[in-house]
Amino acid sequence: MIQAPGPKGHPLHGSWREFRDDPLAFLLDGALAYGDFFRFRLGLTRCFAVSDPAAILAVFTDRDGFTDKTPSHRMQDAYPRSVARLEGGDHLERRRALAPAFQREALLARAGGAMRAVRGGLGRLRAGEPRAVLPVLEDVALRSAAMLLLGDAGGEVVESIATELPRVEAWLGHAASDEGAYQQARAALAGAIARAAERRRAAGSPAAMDLLEALVRAVDAGRMSEQDMIDEIVMMLVTHVPTAAASAWALVELARHPEVRSSLEEELDALAPEGADVERAPLLSRVVLETLRLHPPVWVLAREARREFRHGPHAVSAGDEVLVSPYVMQRLPRYWEDPEAFLPDRFDPASPGHGARPSAAFLPFGLGIRKCIGERTALLQMKLILAASLRELRFELPAGYEASVDGRRPLVPRDGAPMAVERRRAVGHVGCSPLELAFR
Ligand code: HEM
Repeated sequence: MIQAPGPKGHPLHGSWREFRDDPLAFLLDGALAYGDFFRFRLGLTRCFAVSDPAAILAVFTDRDGFTDKTPSHRMQDAYPRSVARLEGGDHLERRRALAPAFQREALLARAGGAMRAVRGGLGRLRAGEPRAVLPVLEDVALRSAAMLLLGDAGGEVVESIATELPRVEAWLGHAASDEGAYQQARAALAGAIARAAERRRAAGSPAAMDLLEALVRAVDAGRMSEQDMIDEIVMMLVTHVPTAAASAWALVELARHPEVRSSLEEELDALAPEGADVERAPLLSRVVLETLRLHPPVWVLAREARREFRHGPHAVSAGDEVLVSPYVMQRLPRYWEDPEAFLPDRFDPASPGHGARPSAAFLPFGLGIRKCIGERTALLQMKLILAASLRELRFELPAGYEASVDGRRPLVPRDGAPMAVERRRAVGHVGCSPLELAFR
C-alpha cells in the first residue's frame, strides 16, 4: 500500500488550524492540489477527503463498512428516536414507513396550504433599508414545512410550532440560557404535535398521505411509540434551517444576476401562482439547483470506516474518517465548466455535459442509504418561497455587500443576507394578502 498524498501538517495538531480557519478552502484546495483521495490529520484522527465518484458511492452504500459520523445536529441528540439517528435495520424500517409521505403527489396535494403559509410569512418583510432576510425565510420555511408535512392538522398548530420550535433551537444552540423556558417550549411543542395527531385521528385519514398520517398509522399499529412520532416530526421540521439558507442564497444570486432574475420573473408571471405549475417551472428549477450547487447548505458529510477500505494503491483503516464535501464536488472543474459562475442553464437537460456527469458530482442531498428523505419537500418549498417572493417583490443587495459565507453548518450568507425589498407589481388575483398589506 502507498500512503495517499496530502498536506504534512503540524506534528501535533495535523491540519487542524487550517481546517478550522477555512474548511471549505482547505478541502477544495486540497482536492485541486492532491487529487480525489487525499489524506490529512485533525489532531489524532486520520482523515481522507474523497472526491472520486466510485469511492463516494461505495462509502455511502456500504452499511457494514462505514458508520455515519456527520457531526450530529444538536437537535438530533435531543430527539434521538428520529430516522436521522437510527442505525441498521431500525433505520431501514423507519425509512420505509416514512417514504409514502414524501411522494410527489402527496406533497403537491399540500402545496396550496404551504403557499398560503409562505405568503403569510413573507408579509413580515418591510420595504425600506436593507435588513437580513434569513430570519424571515426561516420562519416561512418552518410554516410551509408544517403545512406540507402535517396537512390540515398543521394549519391548526402552525402558530405553536412557529413559536416554540425556535425557542427549543435557541437553547440547544446556546443562544438562550434559561433551561426552564427550554423545557416549557419543548413540552408545548410536543403538546402541539400530540394535538395535531389527535385531530387527525378524529377526522380520519386524508385523501392524500402526509407525514403525520404515516406516523399516526405506525403508532396505532404498535410499530412506534407516541414519543417516537413526536421526535420524528420535530426533527423533520428542524430542516427548515437548510431550506431557508438555500432560499436566501438564491435571492442573493438573483440580485447579483439581474438578467437571470428578469427571465425568471417573466416565467413566474405567466404561471398560476401555486401548485404543479410552480413545481415544474423550468427556469425556477434550474435556479434552485444551481443555487444548491454553489451553496450547498450541508457542505460536508462524514463517515467512519469500520474496516479497511481500499482505493487503488491507497487504504483507509478501521477508525479513519472519510469526508465527502458536496461543496467541493460541486466546484470541481473536472465536472463543472466555469465552476464559480452562477449559470442555471447548465442544468438544462439539453446543455452540453449535463447527462455525462456522475451522480456524485452533484450531491446537495447526500447519496445512498442516508440520502435526504426530504429532498422533494425541500425543492418544492424553495420553489414556493422563490415564486411567492419574486412574483411580487424585488430584492436588492446593499452596495459593497460581499456574498461570503457566514457560519459553518449549514452554510448561510453573511449577516443573514441583508437586502432591500421593494414592491414589484400589484397582484390582482390574490386579493388583500398579507404581502399586499405589508407593501401598500
Ligand atoms: C435544502 C434543504 C436540505 C438540504 C440541503 C438537506 C441535506 C441533507 C443531506 C446532505 C442529508 C444526508 C446526511 C448524511 O448522509 O449524513 C440529509 C439527510 C436527511 N434529511 Fe435533509 N436536507 C434538506 C431538507 C430536508 C427536509 C425539508 C427534510 C424533511 C422534510 C429533510 C429530512 C432529512 C432527514 C430525515 C435526513 C436523514 C435521513 C436518514 O438518515 O436516513 N431534509 N439532508
